[in-house]
Order: sequence, then C-alpha cells, then structure tokens
Amino acid sequence: MACLDFFRVVCLSACCILRGASEILVLEPSRLVVEYGAKASANCSTYISHNGMGWEASEGPVDMVENVQLLTWTVPTLTHWDIQPICYINLEDGSQAERNLSVTVYKLPDTLSISFKNCPGPVTEGETCRLQCDIQNVAPVRYLKVTWYKQFRMEQTTSFTETTITPVNKSISCMIQPSRNDDGAKYWCEAKLELGPDGPQPPPTKKSDPVSITVHYKPVFSNDTEIIEAGDGEITLNCTARANPPSEYTWETPYQEKAVKLSAPSLSVSRSGNYTCTASNQYGKAKKLFIIKPKYRDNTTLWTILVVGLLIAALLITVYIIKKRYTPCKRSANQSKSPSPAVQREEGEELVSPVK
Ligand SMILES: *[C@@H]1O[C@H](CO)[C@@H](O)[C@H](O)[C@H]1NC(C)=O
Ligand SMILES: *[C@@H]1O[C@H](CO)[C@@H](O)[C@H](O)[C@H]1NC(C)=O
Ligand SMILES: *[C@@H]1O[C@H](CO)[C@@H](O)[C@H](O)[C@H]1NC(C)=O
Ligand SMILES: *[C@@H]1O[C@H](CO)[C@@H](O)[C@H](O)[C@H]1NC(C)=O
Ligand SMILES: *[C@@H]1O[C@H](CO)[C@@H](O)[C@H](O)[C@H]1NC(C)=O
Ligand SMILES: *[C@@H]1O[C@H](CO)[C@@H](O)[C@H](O)[C@H]1NC(C)=O
Repeated sequence: MACLDFFRVVCLSACCILRGASEILVLEPSRLVVEYGAKASANCSTYISHNGMGWEASEGPVDMVENVQLLTWTVPTLTHWDIQPICYINLEDGSQAERNLSVTVYKLPDTLSISFKNCPGPVTEGETCRLQCDIQNVAPVRYLKVTWYKQFRMEQTTSFTETTITPVNKSISCMIQPSRNDDGAKYWCEAKLELGPDGPQPPPTKKSDPVSITVHYKPVFSNDTEIIEAGDGEITLNCTARANPPSEYTWETPYQEKAVKLSAPSLSVSRSGNYTCTASNQYGKAKKLFIIKPKYRDNTTLWTILVVGLLIAALLITVYIIKKRYTPCKRSANQSKSPSPAVQREEGEELVSPVK
C-alpha cells in the first residue's frame, strides 16, 4: 500500500510522465517479431508488490502466480497469426493493470516465381513484354518489398499497404522493352520482409529462379567504315556484325560485277579498293565499307624514284650549264683542235636537229 502511494506521489511530481498503471509492467522485448512456427518468448516484470501476476494468451498462457517480480511467457512453436499476449497484475488496492505485447508473426513466401506473360518466345527489339512475379503465402504483406532485378541491377521496388496479418498470395508485374543489349539478360524478383529494428537483421529475403530473355534484332556495326592500309600479301576483312539471329553476308568488290554471297563474315583480299559488305537477317540489314588504301611502301618507292630522278636530272643540267659556260673560252683557245667527243655530240645535235 505504502509502495503504491509512493508511486502515485512520484507520478504527480513527475508531471505524469508515467501514464497510468500499465507503466508498472515492463515487457522485454517490448515488441516481438517472430517467424511463424518458431519459438516465442517474452518477460513481464514489475518492481511493486502485488497479489499476483500472469499472462493471458491464445497460446502458452501463464496462470496467475504470487511472489514473483518476473514472469516469462513462452511458446515453443508459434502457430497463431493474430496472437496478442497480455501480462496482467493484480494490485494490492484491488485494481488490475495490464500490458499488451505486440507480436508480429512473419513468414517468407513458400514460392516466388517469375515468368513472361505476353512474350512466350524470343522478343523483337522494341517490343513490350510483361514480366510477372508470383508470390505465395507471405505474411504480413505490409512489410513486404518486392524488387525486380536485371543482371544484378535493382530495377524497381513495390510495397503494399494492406494490413492483413495472415498469409496472402500476390502477383505483381513489370513492363519491359528489351533492347539488343538485353539479349540473354537474366531477370528475377526478390521478396524481402522489412520488419524494422526489432526484426531479424539482415531482413529475411527470398529470390525467384531467374528467367533469361532472347532478343531478336537487325545487324549493327559498331563502326560502318574501316580504312585499312594494304600490307604484304592478303588482308582479311572482318565484317562480323552483331545480330540475332546471326547475319548472312554479301560482298561487293571492285573487281567483280556481281555481289558475292558468303556465309562467313570475312573476306581475304589482296588488292586495294573499296569493298562493301552487307549483313542481313529477317529484321533488317546494315552495310559496312572497307577502304583498302594502296600499299604505303609502293608510294615510298615511287617518291624515291621521283626524287632520285629529279636529283640526277638537276645534276645533269648543272653539268651541262657548267660545260656550256666554259666552252666558248676553250673554243677560242683551241680552235684548231677538234672538240672533245661530248661537246661534239652536243653541238652536233644542235646542228643536226633542224635538218631532221
Ligand atoms: C527473460 O528473463 C530470463 C531470466 O532473467 C532471461 O534468462 C531471459 O533471457 C529473458 N528473456 C528475454 C526475452 O528477455
Ligand atoms: C490490449 O489488447 C486487448 C485485446 O486484444 C484490447 O482490447 C486492448 O485495447 C489492448 N490494450 C492496449 C493498451 O492496447
Ligand atoms: C495462394 O495460392 C495457393 C496456390 O494457388 C492456394 O493454395 C492458396 O489457397 C492461396 N492462398 C490465398 C490466401 O489465397
Ligand atoms: C571507325 O573507323 C574509323 C576509320 O577506320 C576510325 O577513325 C574510328 O576511330 C573508328 N571508330 C570506332 C568507334 O572504332
Ligand atoms: C571478327 O571480329 C569479331 C568481333 O567483332 C571476332 O569475334 C571474330 O573472331 C573476328 N573474326 C576473325 C576471322 O578475325
Ligand atoms: C571509296 O569510298 C570513299 C568513301 O566513300 C570515296 O571517297 C572513294 O572515292 C571511294 N573510292 C573508290 C575507288 O571508289
């Protein structure tokens, strides 16, 4: 009695921070998050003397006992979704105080599966597909987050607002428009129960098996013009285009009138010129131009010959001019003498040409 009076005084002086008799009871933990079928347990304790305390619960109730300050409620296998244990205490003044234990019972989905809904076979680039994630028997749905993944990248997350505490089935869908880069990509969905700080860490999750997508698209070249310098012997032109299904190739060469159809994407050539390759499949076609420039060494040789030729010509001209300049002196000095054979030929040519 004295103890309770003391409590009331404290309550008044502390501006009623302690609201009512329920504060007499302390629950540990204050919120219980437990997996369906797992062991559940909580402690109810008090610091005042009383006429008895106990637990009321749909599973594992504890009959009233006296002379205890701590009473444990425990269930080895929890199989109630809506369980709400109440710890009560009979006070010495004849009144009763009670405290509810908030229990969240969770369950990961039994199955989680992903499927394409309107794209049973391969998808053509640009087509829209619906992916569906089916989740069976998950609880409580308001803590559920479903995330879509594409090749380890998180794409989109869905959450739910309904307050159902028993297991539910959920189907969510997501529209995708695959591109050529998505060919062979894997998609999956993941369910996560974000139960808050009182829940297990990290949050329980379950993944679906992945599904992969086949995307059909027309050929594409990363570079539609390639300039190659001719080397020694043959060069292989590689016209491999990205396409699904794989391309067929045709080649137009400067030395053949008709286009050549080839199943191989490469062509060996030994002559310079423009070669055009066309890659095609049932979705379209793309062209690639190979410009084979003449061998660079041929050019060097040509230039060497030209330069050397010019140098020789310049040398000859110089020699000729020098000779011509000195000839008159020689002529006047040695008129009787016959001219040297070289000069004679030069003069002879000059003299002969008009007669010719
Ligand atoms: C309840 O109390 C008992 C005894 O003090 C202790 O061993 C146990 O860990 C407590 N349980 C919880 C959930 O706090
Ligand atoms: C405790 O639970 C009972 C029964 O579920 C309910 O009637 C009562 O309002 C609850 N009390 C508090 C304080 O939440
Ligand atoms: C969820 O789906 C399963 C299988 O289709 C079914 O057995 C179960 O009853 C469904 N549960 C609910 C809550 O609708
Ligand atoms: C494409 O080819 C041209 C000519 O060969 C070259 O200059 C260019 O860098 C290439 N571009 C790419 C992206 O490979
Ligand atoms: C042609 O290039 C592709 C990549 O673009 C490569 O995978 C392939 O092996 C090459 N083929 C030849 C014959 O070099
Ligand atoms: C080869 O193609 C290039 C680029 O289109 C063009 O400039 C050049 O004249 C062509 N050469 C021949 C021999 O057709």
